[in-house]
Amino acid sequence: AIDPNFDQNREQVSEEKLDELRSSADQTTFGDDVAVWGPVEPPEKLGIHGTHVAVDYDICLADGACLENCPVDVFTWVDTPDHPVSELKVEPTNEDQCIDCMLCVDICPVDAIDVDAS
Ligand code: SF4
Ligand code: F3S
Repeated sequence: AIDPNFDQNREQVSEEKLDELRSSADQTTFGDDVAVWGPVEPPEKLGIHGTHVAVDYDICLADGACLENCPVDVFTWVDTPDHPVSELKVEPTNEDQCIDCMLCVDICPVDAIDVDAS
């Protein structure tokens, strides 16, 4: 399961590093407006994406229930070629619109999502 204390236990990947990653192999993995918490070593390690709504990319297996059921469409699919668990992940693109219903946290079969409702 995702570490709920990821923001203390991991380091946020810098914009410079993200730019570097975007310009190398797979550009679709790292969006513009979502924080990434390392370690990040594509294609195997992709970090935790998001802060208020956080998805552990190394746990997500592209079940899709979060994306299909979120009432305010927080998530979008991104390609993650050659990731050992799945080649699609959900990015919490619209995490600022989250209403803290906790549905995604409850529904994910592998507990890949943390929502900080406090
Ligand atoms: Fe969407 Fe609810 Fe999850 Fe927020 S907690 S991302 S509103 S399903
Ligand atoms: Fe991934 Fe869980 Fe959603 S496996 S696609 S975070 S329901």
